Amino acid sequence: MEVVIVPDATAGGELIAEAIASLLSRKPDALLGVATGSTPLPIYRALAAKVAAGAVDASRARICQLDEYVGLPVGHPESYRSVVLREVVEPLGLSEASFMGPDGSAEDVQAACEAYDRALAEAGGVDLQLLGIGTDGHIGFNEPCSSLASRTRIKTLTEQTRVDNARFFDDIDQVPHHVITQGIGTILDARHPILLATGEGKAEAVAQTVEGPVASIVPASALQLHPHATVVVDEAAASKL
Ligand code: GLP
Repeated sequence: MEVVIVPDATAGGELIAEAIASLLSRKPDALLGVATGSTPLPIYRALAAKVAAGAVDASRARICQLDEYVGLPVGHPESYRSVVLREVVEPLGLSEASFMGPDGSAEDVQAACEAYDRALAEAGGVDLQLLGIGTDGHIGFNEPCSSLASRTRIKTLTEQTRVDNARFFDDIDQVPHHVITQGIGTILDARHPILLATGEGKAEAVAQTVEGPVASIVPASALQLHPHATVVVDEAAASKL
């Protein structure tokens, strides 16, 4: 596992946008797995700025989702589909046709999970998967004690994650209890997972991920098993390393 410490979130965003730009120059139709939450926003801004400046051609890039809430109405502004379209697909000038994600409003959620897992493989696999990290060490929505071999499936959120994510909703009662997430095994299939963590609130989870044992209680620690995983942390998130 490669660990890179950067001064702040902006520098982390710039560094990872550079890595994406370099991938796209080698493989213009790369499949980019994107994460939601506040942490990756500086990556998307830096990448969109490079595209706008003509420094990167992202016109053939393909974008795929990491996870999704179950049961939000189609088009809800906080569904991860809406967030990814708003924060990534539109700013990069891509169309919805270049985007794939799990169907959180499907009647048969399990079938939707299996279909998405299959679709990722059929698309050639994820080339670069961006990840944030939850305060409890989750990646995607793989909460503590998720199987390290898990595939895309339905999960129940912990109360802590619902509290953490309540800031995106009017009140906590609106935060769904269930989600679809790429499994840890699915995430480890990506050719290059890159986790970005910023701020002191993530310092404990980062220390467990990087220096702790590989254990399902800290799902992000599974990245230690990947031959080409990168963890980018700002100085605050690195403070317990
Ligand atoms: C959610 C997402 C994760 C993300 C996490 C942290 O739980 N499912 O993919 O990493 O939030 O979000 P933030 O970056 O806002 O702290």
